[in-house]
Amino acid sequence: MHEPTRRNVLKGLAATAGAPMLASCSPGGTAQTEVTASATTARFSTTAPRATRVWGYDGQAPGPGFRVTQGTRMVRRFVNRLPVPSTIHWHGLRIDNAMDGVAGLTQPPVPPGQSFTYDFLLRDAGTFWYHPHIDTLEQLARGLSAPLIVLETEPPDTDADLSFLINHWWLDGDGQIANDFTRNEETPRDPAATSHLTVNGRAPLVWGTAQNERLRLRLINGTTGRILDTSAQGLSGWVMALDGMPLARPRRFDRVTMAPAQRVDLLVDVTADPGEEAQLRTAGGHVLAAFPVEGVASASPRPTPGPLPPNRVARPDLRNARRATMRMTGGALGALGRAKIRGGATLSQAELVARGLSWTMDGYAGMPDTPFLTVGEGETVMIDIVNATAEPHGMHLHGHHFHQVGQGGRLVPLRDTILMDGGARMTIAFVADNPGDWMFHCHMLAHQAMGMMSWIRVGDRRTAMDIGRQRSGFWEAGDIC
Ligand code: C2O
Ligand code: CU
Repeated sequence: MHEPTRRNVLKGLAATAGAPMLASCSPGGTAQTEVTASATTARFSTTAPRATRVWGYDGQAPGPGFRVTQGTRMVRRFVNRLPVPSTIHWHGLRIDNAMDGVAGLTQPPVPPGQSFTYDFLLRDAGTFWYHPHIDTLEQLARGLSAPLIVLETEPPDTDADLSFLINHWWLDGDGQIANDFTRNEETPRDPAATSHLTVNGRAPLVWGTAQNERLRLRLINGTTGRILDTSAQGLSGWVMALDGMPLARPRRFDRVTMAPAQRVDLLVDVTADPGEEAQLRTAGGHVLAAFPVEGVASASPRPTPGPLPPNRVARPDLRNARRATMRMTGGALGALGRAKIRGGATLSQAELVARGLSWTMDGYAGMPDTPFLTVGEGETVMIDIVNATAEPHGMHLHGHHFHQVGQGGRLVPLRDTILMDGGARMTIAFVADNPGDWMFHCHMLAHQAMGMMSWIRVGDRRTAMDIGRQRSGFWEAGDIC
């Protein structure tokens, strides 16, 4: 069932894997591109009786990725041809607040038939992705997500650089999406629905390789709520970056756990023998990618790679930090209790549940009227996160990467999304150096939809929404760079 020759595989991959370069520009250059969201169809399963009706970017679900070199200014016009309002959030980018794509916080939703031009500088090299930020659970589950790869000006020496956007779909007997858009990803709307995990919309992805080739694998957990445990056979290497931020000391790769929205960059050498197949697979034994090995690229593996060049991120000053506690409650087993909702009313647990709210952050169910925290631009912030629920959560902060603070004030490598076990507590720290209003929420999107979201304000009160700044209308068709 796997296509046998490398050439065929390459051809198939180019159409779906985000391999083609839409724009690869030099630092200081400008990349002008357009992306259209619309209803389309996709084939996630060879056994489905017909194509699946989805929402996609540029006619594909998940959307085609794009790659741009660090330092490029990206001018990307989003055209909404969906039947519903939408936006694009550039997950993990430390971006100008007005370009963050959060409907109702950083911009008005883009109505059907209209467009919005996103214009931002790609400060950090790394693996990122984009998705809507309005009715996020439903829009993502219907197919709207895509990789965004920012290349180092001098990328490491590899034989291939591949992105793997992992999505999960429930398909009914007719091959149509059967996710329940109000509930947990584990619960389909149709109890007879079948579960499908895809990589770049395929299952599995196939990439012909040779022994001792070195591959860069960029894994993106684009599921709406699954924690993915991934390991490999016939590949050996290093974890180079987490959530787009290089590790100062790459770790040996054995197994990686990814919360929804998290990314991991691997550098691996093909150790399987010619005629064998190397694989990337989930703990459940699901093959995400197959690497048929044809021949030997070189007699011996390459030397151990050095770290990727670091992105410039300010180091938190823990002794002079602004400290706050963020407590989360709710879920089936936890006590939800009373909570505030937008507008200021306090509701009982039963009233909250009746409104579809079952999770809280800092005493609020749903988006609070006022920020959880207001800090001065440049201040170090430490947030003690208390997960007073029995379930894990993947907590994501917009506009900044943060450290978990370990034993004795040790700073754990930067992330933009962190997995917390049920009942866990942890402290995160970051320098709030990006002014604006930034969401802080659970990226298990059913939790977010059912209340688990909040926001912080950094710096001056006059943010994009306050002053009604809308940067559209200066799009001109033309050169890519
Ligand atoms: Cu991936 Cu608030 O977003
Ligand atoms: Cu959660």
